[in-house]
Amino acid sequence: MIHIESGLFQCPEKLVEEIVAAASCHNYAIISDTQVAVLYGNPLLKAFLKKGISCHLITFPSGEQSKTRETKEKLENSCFEKGLGKDSAIIALGGGVTTDLVGFLAATYCRGVPLISIPTSFLAMVDAAFGGKTGVNCSYGKNLIGCLYEPKKIIIDTQILKTQELKGIKEGLVEVIKYAIILKPKLFDYLVKHADMVLSLQENVLEHLIHEGSRTKVAVVRKSKKVMGIRNLLNFGHTIGHALESVSNHTLTHGEAVAIGIMVESEIAVRLGVMQEKVFERIQNLFELYGISTQLPASLSIEKIMDKMILDKKSLEGKPRFVMVAEIGRCLECDLQYCKNVDEGIVRQALAKQFKL
Ligand SMILES: NC(=O)c1ccc[n+]([C@@H]2O[C@H](COP(=O)([O-])OP(=O)(O)OC[C@H]3O[C@@H](n4cnc5c(N)ncnc54)[C@H](O)[C@@H]3O)[C@@H](O)[C@H]2O)c1
Repeated sequence: MIHIESGLFQCPEKLVEEIVAAASCHNYAIISDTQVAVLYGNPLLKAFLKKGISCHLITFPSGEQSKTRETKEKLENSCFEKGLGKDSAIIALGGGVTTDLVGFLAATYCRGVPLISIPTSFLAMVDAAFGGKTGVNCSYGKNLIGCLYEPKKIIIDTQILKTQELKGIKEGLVEVIKYAIILKPKLFDYLVKHADMVLSLQENVLEHLIHEGSRTKVAVVRKSKKVMGIRNLLNFGHTIGHALESVSNHTLTHGEAVAIGIMVESEIAVRLGVMQEKVFERIQNLFELYGISTQLPASLSIEKIMDKMILDKKSLEGKPRFVMVAEIGRCLECDLQYCKNVDEGIVRQALAKQFKL
């Protein structure tokens, strides 16, 4: 169940009613990073307590560095210390780090308790909160430990984006651009036409992108129950992107890494004769229009990036596979795998082209 509406946090008591109706539990734990807790966790906690419903607010430090097994364990211990048992529900309130980390916690806590997801960042609203993927990073790579776990409800208040910085909004924009490239040529044109409105954070335009993004993701995930490989499309730009995040020790954010990944993977498609140069240029121009850099920092080593990709989830027999975009909105099916092996030399050449001069 998904509820998208502007202004829900203006009346947190109503939000509580909606959460309780979906989870029907006796105890609640709102888990949030420290930044989101101050802005939205505290008012929600107060509204629960005002209604006489048992609720706790549990926090962890903001940022990707917290998406670890260690943080999960600390949060689990806090939940036990507060006496939360099987009749409790967990509310993941925050960006993609929170929905991934707390979703994984809810999936395993007391062998699984109801999860309510309230994404607060644009990235989480268009992508991370949908599709049920949860997990944490470890020293071997991104999102390598986790599971699929669907929330009972996903609640989005578009108005709370007003406290997110443009840099954070751009994180989500990269995923919207990805949806446009792989499946939605009309969305691509919309992004070209409405760049000024998006960049000035007009709420109705962002709301349109949230509807487009969430619907696209949900549709692909549903279809993947019949055509398993189709979910790989959502990974366009991520084979390179996840490796870059790890190799840069998360100094590159998810969005920054995926934007570079999209251009490197497009370059691979050009070199294989799958994508025409003019399509590559349209994609490059869109990133430029939004002021999103797609250049690889000079400090990163191709060797390390190549090594990290071995553990990518699409890898087969230790070799990474890549989504092949032919045109805006059209990808190669590749025997319903929607990705394919590419000669290592071509991947290295494509990476080298994207380095900062
Ligand atoms: N599970 C999936 O399918 C999926 C898909 C895409 C990305 N992800 C994951 O999402 C993560 C990145 O998500 P993110 O960019 O949201 O990072 P994040 O959760 O760290 O949020 C970014 C920053 O924005 C702050 N913030 C969030 N909402 C805010 C608001 N409304 N106002 C003010 N500040 C706010 C947070 O406190 C944080 O400091 C990565 O770990 C990535 O792997 C998961």
